[in-house]
Amino acid sequence: MPDRSYVIDQMISAKSIAARIEDLAREIKAEFAGTDRLIVVGLLRGSFVFIADLVRELDMNVEVDFVETSSYGNAMESSKEVRILKDLRGEIEGRDVLVVEDIVDTGHTLTHVLHLLESRAPAKLRTIALLDKPIRREVDIKADWIGFEIPDEFVVGYGIDFAQRNRNLPFIGKVRFTE
Ligand code: PRP
Repeated sequence: MPDRSYVIDQMISAKSIAARIEDLAREIKAEFAGTDRLIVVGLLRGSFVFIADLVRELDMNVEVDFVETSSYGNAMESSKEVRILKDLRGEIEGRDVLVVEDIVDTGHTLTHVLHLLESRAPAKLRTIALLDKPIRREVDIKADWIGFEIPDEFVVGYGIDFAQRNRNLPFIGKVRFTE
């Protein structure tokens, strides 16, 4: 449990997220127009809502797989150590792969996962992040598609947690501490 009281101010509405996902899905379909079966890889746990909405906008053949990473624990600051808690179930060699991330903050998580997946020789490897916080970047990486660029605020909702809470909010909210 967070040890400070807080309220959540809406930052990006569910409607704005849905509209942005429609646009992103259109671009992704164009990029993978020649792909037989796209493997969409969600990074657990934060991406579970985004990937669910995104794949339902992709009217093409997709497989869904997941990698679970951990870097934050329950703290607010990122550590540089990224652990793979769960690996892919399927093979990606020679396949087209889209990695789906909820937020790119320091960039360590996405960098680590990309290195891992690249070592397995996919045909094409692309990335999408719903949120990008470029001001926090510690490694030089940018997702191929970004939903929204945001300032350095502590955000929750739409899959993103604060100490495992608030993942189920349908919008992206900003944490405001009240004490
Ligand atoms: C969060 C978030 C991203 C990552 C971004 O995951 O979901 O995956 O951190 O941070 P970075 O760019 O600084 O590496 P977390 O490790 O908290 O796990 P979770 O997805 O299970 O919430």
